[in-house]
Order: sequence, then structure tokens, then C-alpha cells
Amino acid sequence: MLITVIGSGYVGLVSAVCLAEMGHQVIAVDSDKEKIAALTRGEAPIYESLVPELLRRHGGKRLRFSSFPKAAVTASDVVFLAVGTPQGGNGEADLSQIEAVAKEIAPVLHRSTLIVEKSTVPVCTCEALRELLLHNGAQAGWFSVASNPEFLREGSAVTDFLHPDRIVIGADDEFSRFMLQEVYRPLASGAYYRREDAVPCPARNQGRVRLLVTSAKSAELIKHASNAFLATKISYINTVARLAEEVGANIDEVCAGMGSDPRIGSEFLRAGVGYGGSCFPKDVAAFEAVARRCGVDIPLLREVARVNEEQRIRFVEKVRRTLGTLRGRRIAALGLAFKEDTDDVRESPAIAIVCDLTRQGALVCAHDPAAISRAREALPNVPITYTQDPYEAARGCDALLILTAWRQFAGLDLQKLHSLMKAPLIFDGRNLFVPEEMAAAGFVYHSVGRPSLRAERPAMTPIGLPSAMGYTVARIAAAAEQAGVEAPARAASQSRVPNDYSPRTPQRATDRPHQ
Ligand code: UGA
Repeated sequence: MLITVIGSGYVGLVSAVCLAEMGHQVIAVDSDKEKIAALTRGEAPIYESLVPELLRRHGGKRLRFSSFPKAAVTASDVVFLAVGTPQGGNGEADLSQIEAVAKEIAPVLHRSTLIVEKSTVPVCTCEALRELLLHNGAQAGWFSVASNPEFLREGSAVTDFLHPDRIVIGADDEFSRFMLQEVYRPLASGAYYRREDAVPCPARNQGRVRLLVTSAKSAELIKHASNAFLATKISYINTVARLAEEVGANIDEVCAGMGSDPRIGSEFLRAGVGYGGSCFPKDVAAFEAVARRCGVDIPLLREVARVNEEQRIRFVEKVRRTLGTLRGRRIAALGLAFKEDTDDVRESPAIAIVCDLTRQGALVCAHDPAAISRAREALPNVPITYTQDPYEAARGCDALLILTAWRQFAGLDLQKLHSLMKAPLIFDGRNLFVPEEMAAAGFVYHSVGRPSLRAERPAMTPIGLPSAMGYTVARIAAAAEQAGVEAPARAASQSRVPNDYSPRTPQRATDRPHQ
């Protein structure tokens, strides 16, 4: 099939390379001529695993690039619209890019063409798009409009596209259903997975993929409702984490217990500094806004967004309370991206936190394995020192904050880290480490929804610890015993500090801000 994908941003580019990988002839279109020139040279404009490989594999062959949507659409059987739908006024999705593309391509729709809405849009957009195309010169009967939402995640976008849990085909007519089933036949039949050069599948793939055929409106709702549900799950678990912290329970244990009920599921129950990115914050707001416009109030979603905002503020407040003041304190921030394995800093909780810290007078030194240049662009006037090395960021700091769950951070040499920091104080906003192991390594360790632990001895045990991850409490205890020192795990559990650990008088719950 000949497919055009309009919009070569995250969703558009990943869709284009993956559709080419599935065997289709693809033209990826973007109005940004520099981006198209870079793609034509084989350069990926996004930081995403496997995209460079697929660009190399198909670029100039099954996959071509263009800045001329009309010519590409004229030649195509299927046209995916994957342009941006940013947040507009009142939280509503701004559909102006979709409208502009529709107006441009409408006059050339005079052979059977399927227009597919791939961007995340509010319910009823397909209907509106159909009308818009007709009003701008498209010939009735020569085109159809369908919805085919995308569920890929940044960081694993290519495998998510090629090995999806489900493919939703939102079609209101036979032509749309048939064409979309043809597009995805290589995945639905399992033919793609039998290829020797197929992108390897994660464990969950069953060898073929489930196609879920719905109406266009249902498909649009599935996308918004799914993202809003996942965001709700995160805000819910973050709220439970607050309670766990108050009473001295452990959110990891709570999640293990909750998540083993298949009706709840264990995914998206990671407590932390909250969700970010280009999707959840905007989609929660847009879903709430479209529901309100349709006469359905969903206060739950306003609460989800509020809890999420509050989570970052509470985290900074915890740091401030522990240090007494942020003014003049040197803070090392590890992580700037909104999540691991991406350089994307849009709506990143880490970015909000470092901004808040500097506003309150802290001297922030930040490191991220991939997102430093994006952070510099996003924060041109914020006084942050960036380092290419996490240990450099930690040198001489009063406290170290972990804000993104990069696996590189989990593998840090704790002994080295400890020796560089002015005070061995860690606030882990992503629960990357095991509290007992951090206490055993000599740190005062605060995380989210878990008891804060303070090391009995200020320095490392004589045996030293190469890394916290994979170093179990039992092994630490055994090694410590061998070295003739008190078992650090026991020492750590004895030094459990109250969750409002502070050198100052603890406040009453009702006195605390942001509760
Ligand atoms: C999200 C959805 O997961 C995708 O299914 C969807 O296709 C995509 O939005 C989209 O609409 O385009 P993405 O934003 O790339 O994907 O990243 P996620 O892995 O969902 O993470 C979102 C945020 O939630 C991150 O800040 C992450 O750190 C946070 N998160 C995630 C948690 O705080 N806890 C969790 O348990 C999981």
C-alpha cells in the first residue's frame, strides 16, 4: 500500500518508519523543511531507540520524505494525520494544525482515499474533519475518515508500535475498515513476526495482534479515556504513597499487594514525583474539557491533575524542610527528562522541580544522560549549572535529588557518590533504590511513600558498596559481618526516622502546606 503520514513528530515519524518496516511504501511529510532535509540524510530528529536503525533500513527505499502534502496525498491510498494537537485555552485540544492540513489536502481528494486520524483528538473530531474536508473541496464519495489511535510510549515507541497490545480501528464504513485491516495485516496475521529481520518482540506479544474494530467516536474515546485512566492510576498511587509515608508503611509493599490482583494490575503503580510528558497532562485536561463541552462534568480528572501538580511541590517542600532553607544550598539534580530513555523535557516534573528550587534560592547543578540540551532550550533564563557527569553534579552538594528513573542512576557507584557529597543526603523522587541499602551505604535517604532511613554510621562500611541495585540487604549484612562491623541492614532498620524527619520541630499534619 502507498501511505502518507503527515506530521513527522514523535507519533508521525515512529508510525512512518514502522509502516515501512511492515512492508508499505511510505511518504513522511512535514512542513519543517530542515527536518525533512535531515531525515532525507538519514538523521533522526528525535531521541528514540530503533528509529535510527529503521531510518537506515528503509530511508530512500520504502520510506521517502517530502514537504509537499498535496503531491504525497494524491499518490496515496491511506493518509495518516499525525500533526500536533497541543493544549489550547480552557484545557481544550488545539486542533488548528489538523484544520490547516485538512484545508490543504481537501481539493486533491478525488480518488478513493482513506484519511486516518492518528493524533490524539477529542471525541467527534472525525465527524468534524469529514465536514471540513467536504467544505474545502473534497469530493463526497471519494474519501473516508477513520480513527486509529496510537498507544506508543516514548522510550519504547518502535516496539510498542510493532508489538502492540491491541490495534484500535475506529471506522464508520466498510471502506475504512477494509483499508485499515489491510494496513495492519502484517501484524494481525503474524506474518511480520515470522520474518527473520523483524524487530524482536517483548514478552507480552503472542505472535499476532488483536484488532479491535469500533466506531470512530468510540476509538477517539478509547484513546483519551486510556491516557486519563493511566494518569488517574498514577495520581491515586501517589495519594496512597502520601498516606503510607504518614503512617510509616511502604508503598512498594502496598503496590505488590494491590498489583497482584489482576483486576488492578501492577503497571503504572510507581509512586514518584508525578507524571509528565507531552501526553498525560494535556490529555487529562483535554478529556475533561471535551466532556464538559458535551455536558458531562468529570471532577475526578481535575483532582488527578491537582494531585499531580501537588506531588512536585510536596517533594520540593520535603527537601526545604529537611535542609531548613533552600537559599544558598547546593542541590544536585539527577534527571531532567520527563521519564527515562528519552530526551523529552515537555511537562517534565524534573524541570518543574529544578525551577522551583532555583526560585527559592538553591544553587542547582543538574545532570541527565540525554536531556541537557533540551533542558537548556526550555530554561534559557534559569540559573542552572549542567554537568555531563552525575558525579560532577554531586560534588560538594548539600543534597542530591533523583528526578528521572534512568537505569544509569541505579548503577551509580555509591561509595564514590558518598565521598563527593558535602552531606550524604538523598531525595529519591523515583524510588530507584532500596532504602535499607542506601542507609547501609551511609546515606540519609528519603523516597516517596517509603520510610525515610538514616545511616547509623556517617561513612561507608569498610567493605564499600559498588552499587545499590542488585545488592541485597542480606548480602550487605553478610559482608559486614565478615568485615567485623555491625550488620548495616539492622543498623538501618533501627534508625528509621519519622517521615517528617527534620532537625526542627515536626509540624502537625494540618499545618503542613500542600495537603
Ligand atoms: C503515554 C502512554 O503510556 C502511551 O500509551 C500513549 O500512547 C502516549 O502517552 C501518548 O498519548 O502518545 P508516554 O507519555 O510516552 O506514553 O510515557 P509513559 O510511560 O506513559 O509515562 C508518562 C509519565 O508517567 C512519565 O512522567 C512517567 O515517569 C510517569 N509514570 C509512569 C509514573 O509516574 N508512574 C508510573 O507507574 C508510570
